[in-house]
Amino acid sequence: MSIFEDKFRDLKGEFLMAKSPRALVAGNWKMNGKKASLKEIRTLAAKLKDRKPKCNVMICPPATLLGEAKTAAKGSKVKIGGQDCHTAQSGAHTGDISAEMLKNTGVTAVIVGHSERRADHGETDKTVCAKAEAAHAAGLTAIICVGETLEQYKANQTLKVMTSQIKGSLPATATAKNTVIAYEPVWAIGSGLTPTVKEVAKVHTHIRKRLVAALGEDEAAPIAILYGGSVKPNNAVELMAAANVNGALVGGASLKAVDFLGIIAAYE
Ligand code: PGA
Repeated sequence: MSIFEDKFRDLKGEFLMAKSPRALVAGNWKMNGKKASLKEIRTLAAKLKDRKPKCNVMICPPATLLGEAKTAAKGSKVKIGGQDCHTAQSGAHTGDISAEMLKNTGVTAVIVGHSERRADHGETDKTVCAKAEAAHAAGLTAIICVGETLEQYKANQTLKVMTSQIKGSLPATATAKNTVIAYEPVWAIGSGLTPTVKEVAKVHTHIRKRLVAALGEDEAAPIAILYGGSVKPNNAVELMAAANVNGALVGGASLKAVDFLGIIAAYE
């Protein structure tokens, strides 16, 4: 069976949704990448030229490379996104970048609430919600990250944590057009560990239901819910086939075009 056929059945096999989201495979370069890395975007763009993956493809390089990354991806299937934005439009916030400034570089989306920012910079759901709102106001898609810690996973708190993170991080401005959710268990990021496919399906279906509760079925159904955390070419097919998984947010394996293409291949 094609991985596209079973997307909207819940765990009991019943159809949950009628309208399927367009999948997205997004690469998060984090604090990696110098000018020399732009060749990976050029390679990606060239290799995708004659391919027709059933997903959108995005690279989120560090802010220092956004302009040149846009040039490297020009005319190709590769979209470019930012990794974070400030809650304000402009002002006295040394070192920060606003969503409007990102938009001005030509990017179409921004990641907000990645667990590394939540941990390193003390970002709360409230901050993440304000950042997503700022992204929406600037006309960007907000890729809102949620995910439980290892302690919460071990204590069987995952679904509870998802309920509260979705409630706290999703702004009232969220629509089917401007929002993507990325479920990234903190313990799976960069560790080589992943939840089982059954666990991923259960969490994603729960997130879908929370989105329906918050936004209504019409807005919630087409929102892509990405899985992130140690997605590699050798596990992408099975992870992407899980119910309500509509793509991946990829860290380490997005740094080299050849690895990233191996993940995109799950949608070919
Ligand atoms: P990883 O990172 O693929 O290296 O685990 C994922 C992420 O943090 O987005």
